[in-house]
Amino acid sequence: MTNDLLIVHASELLTLRGPKRARAKAEMSELSIVQDGAVAVSDGIIVDVGKTESVLKEHDAKGVDKIDAKGRVVMPGFVDPHTHLVYAGSREFELELKAKGKSYMEILQQGGGIYRTVSDTRSASTDELYQQSAVRLESMIAHGSTTIEAKSGYGLDKSVELRILETVKKLGADYPTDLVPTFLGAHAVAPEFKGNPEGYIDFVVSEVLPEVSKRKLAEFCDVFCEKGVFDVHQSRKVLLGAKSLGMKLKVHADEFRSSGGAELAAEVGAVSADHLVKPSDEGIMAMARKDVVGVMLPGTPYSSFSKDYADGRRLIDLGMPIALGTDLNPNCWNESMQFTISLACHKMRMTPAEAITASTMNSAAALGLEKKVGSLEHGKRADILVLDIPKHTHIPYRFGTNLCYLVMKDGKTIWRKHQSMAT
Ligand code: NIG
Ligand code: FE
Repeated sequence: MTNDLLIVHASELLTLRGPKRARAKAEMSELSIVQDGAVAVSDGIIVDVGKTESVLKEHDAKGVDKIDAKGRVVMPGFVDPHTHLVYAGSREFELELKAKGKSYMEILQQGGGIYRTVSDTRSASTDELYQQSAVRLESMIAHGSTTIEAKSGYGLDKSVELRILETVKKLGADYPTDLVPTFLGAHAVAPEFKGNPEGYIDFVVSEVLPEVSKRKLAEFCDVFCEKGVFDVHQSRKVLLGAKSLGMKLKVHADEFRSSGGAELAAEVGAVSADHLVKPSDEGIMAMARKDVVGVMLPGTPYSSFSKDYADGRRLIDLGMPIALGTDLNPNCWNESMQFTISLACHKMRMTPAEAITASTMNSAAALGLEKKVGSLEHGKRADILVLDIPKHTHIPYRFGTNLCYLVMKDGKTIWRKHQSMAT
């Protein structure tokens, strides 16, 4: 049975029509907007996009679900390419420490940060872990994310790392959103291997990775490559181990100091390098040559009381295709790509159009999904947002509130705004 749908009269229809790859430089500013735009959907796939008048001429509106988007923006669902969705507990008490001047790395090195969450996650039951993560996932969907990457990394042992990835799998099956699983066993040196990062890396590569691969629990493998966590040599071991098992690669690179992460991402053929607050010039150039997408996560310096944001303006001008992600984690409890876009504009001097491209087409490319999602074009999945704003420039401008009116996945409404409260 077909499941047809027409969305008509959008004040702005952001199609992002163009090459099915990450967009760079001036391409990032081109949203290919149709005024009074319409989208036709059949069986969850976009079959037509254009002016309302011409789409209505081609498609019989009789007996078809019709959504009038008059006065509203219609755009592709957000793709969030970097989250640590599955963890237990919270770290709100660290906010006060950070406000008083403690840095993220100081808190981590004193046994807090990731280690606090590892302890909370290890002691949570499978059901608690699922429930706590599901609440966050529902909120992300409500804020318009229709494809979401989710990493492990709070187990740091075999059984809990596997349990986190099993939880990602179950959430993906239970909720109407696509979850892309990433193995991040090398997120920090496990407490059992304190002072012995080499030993922990060998354990991850020989004991955990093969099991993750055998059970098909992760599409990507990631590593926290940073001075004081894992160096380039250790990170390379994990990434090459994963590559030999057929996994795609990502790197947490150069977040606090220039640590060779960008260069490593290019060398091993990673799909993306993420954070990139302090990449070297050689690293940037190497990434550009190998088409590695740069994922920027402005929620992280925001929540870490840091003034150091990635230099989005410079990276775009140098030709790096930029994507944006929330980096949802217990240090940066940010479920909203809308807020992320606002931060990117205010703190990284990206324009609204660049930030929207970075949150749809380019973030799809950061997950290798550029042919399936990220733009509203014939043949793509009907992952569509109707926003309660007349122009896309309102997204970064009106921060701190949810601008979604309807969220659709594969042509089905999965979230809608409450009815008016007026009597
Ligand atoms: O991407 N930088 C490393 N990992 C996470 C933070 C994890 C945590 O603090 O719990 C990040 O910011
Ligand atoms: Fe992260």
